[in-house]
Amino acid sequence: MNRKYMDKHSELNEQTYDNELQNIEINLLLEGLYQMYGFDFRHYLRSSLRRRILNRMKAEKLPTITALLEKVLHHPGFVDKLLGDMSIRVTEMFRDPSFFRAFRNQVVPELRQYPEIRIWHAGCATGEEVYSMAILMQEEGLAERTKVYATDMNEKAIEAAQKGAFPLKQMQAYTKNYLESGGTKAFSEYYTTDNQYAYFRPLMKENLMFAQHNLVTDGSFNEFHVILCRNVMIYFDNQLQKQVHRLFHDSLTSGGYLGLGKKESILFVPEGVQYDEFVPQERIYRKK
Ligand SMILES: C[S@@+](CC[C@H](N)C(=O)[O-])C[C@H]1O[C@@H](n2cnc3c(N)ncnc32)[C@H](O)[C@@H]1O
Repeated sequence: MNRKYMDKHSELNEQTYDNELQNIEINLLLEGLYQMYGFDFRHYLRSSLRRRILNRMKAEKLPTITALLEKVLHHPGFVDKLLGDMSIRVTEMFRDPSFFRAFRNQVVPELRQYPEIRIWHAGCATGEEVYSMAILMQEEGLAERTKVYATDMNEKAIEAAQKGAFPLKQMQAYTKNYLESGGTKAFSEYYTTDNQYAYFRPLMKENLMFAQHNLVTDGSFNEFHVILCRNVMIYFDNQLQKQVHRLFHDSLTSGGYLGLGKKESILFVPEGVQYDEFVPQERIYRKK
């Protein structure tokens, strides 16, 4: 143990001791995850990471984060559990309906000029946002010209997204969101059901492409007219946000649109000056 730490430790109470030691152990765990499996969480916000790591440690009845690291390194199957914990998959169809209303009324008219429209959903989780976009573009008569690329670092989430099957009990809330977002049809036209799930019709999947992609470690793979990355970068520190914004800027066509989550903004990163605020209250920006 480092001398500075030991000197300090003699004056510290139990709580601080735990926090300092936990920080060291978390650093080692994140380093292990990165070096062994290539998943890089080193620049995710610590408070949320710490909570998730401690929950997993308790669920496995392990005494320390170091014991968790031991499992990660020596029991390859175990890492999926931890990755599942790290990826917060909370999502909805037509989440923040006013965002989709603004997209429909203000962005779509601008997109009509393009013979082919490429949209990237980065961090799409289980796909609810992606099917929402597919429905919107179909209602606007643009589905045939639109290709939607949906990516997430979490392979399990992508597999679920590909299925396009969502719990039936959510459909009432999703129908409400759809109508508030400016949808005019009977929402139930878009899916069939059994007693557990709503299955989105194959037509809705025609122009969707799903792939695993990690915003931290993978590069750009196309040039897009629209990038939506909502409620993903809230878990990143400033350095990582800057890095991912550079990736998005490089991946957008000039005049392309970037949509962020309600609590996110581009104004605090250097790339901010390279965008106009297109619909500021909905966090929709346009590359200059
Ligand atoms: C809270 S969900 C947001 C889903 C959707 N965009 C929405 O707003 O409803 C966050 C998603 O970001 C994904 N994610 C986190 N870090 C990522 C990374 N480095 N690369 C790609 N996806 C990531 C998580 O796996 C999770 O599915």
